[in-house]
Amino acid sequence: MPISSLQAVVSVYGRRLVCAASVFVAALWLEGCAGLPPEVTPRMLDFSARGKTLPDLEEGRTVFLVACTRCHALDAPDKFSEAQWRRIVPEMAESSKISQRAEGLLLDYLLGARAQLLAQKAGRDLR
Ligand code: HEC
Repeated sequence: MPISSLQAVVSVYGRRLVCAASVFVAALWLEGCAGLPPEVTPRMLDFSARGKTLPDLEEGRTVFLVACTRCHALDAPDKFSEAQWRRIVPEMAESSKISQRAEGLLLDYLLGARAQLLAQKAGRDLR
């Protein structure tokens, strides 16, 4: 086989490999993003204690991202039932030594985010 056609084969397969690799990297990246706790949306307030605001939920999300990642990876908000979160959050709030206020904001965020994820998985967007 002449060198030039060998080079052509290498360049075609090489390009395919680069292409396959970038699809793989993109898939990993997307999976990483999907693993992040969902952004706060106005409809999440429907699942919060009365009088809570969007900045409250943002703060709850920040508590989750900052205080709850010290010892282990974050679980998706829809991994547990509402009753389970109501049991787990006070336990973990104690381990994390966060304030009662932060604990309340975290619970509201988790329940709102949980409802949002479940709605998305059912094909309905909460927004
Ligand atoms: C000081 C370390 C520490 C911090 C901080 C911490 N956790 Fe944990 N977490 C643990 C340990 C240890 C376990 C496993 C044993 C257990 O369930 O108590 C655990 C387990 C869990 C589980 C699994 C519970 C189950 O029943 O399967 C969840 C969910 C969880 N943590 C959420 C959180 C959240 C939310 C926060 C933030 C408020 C948090 N964790 C902060 C140490 C921590």
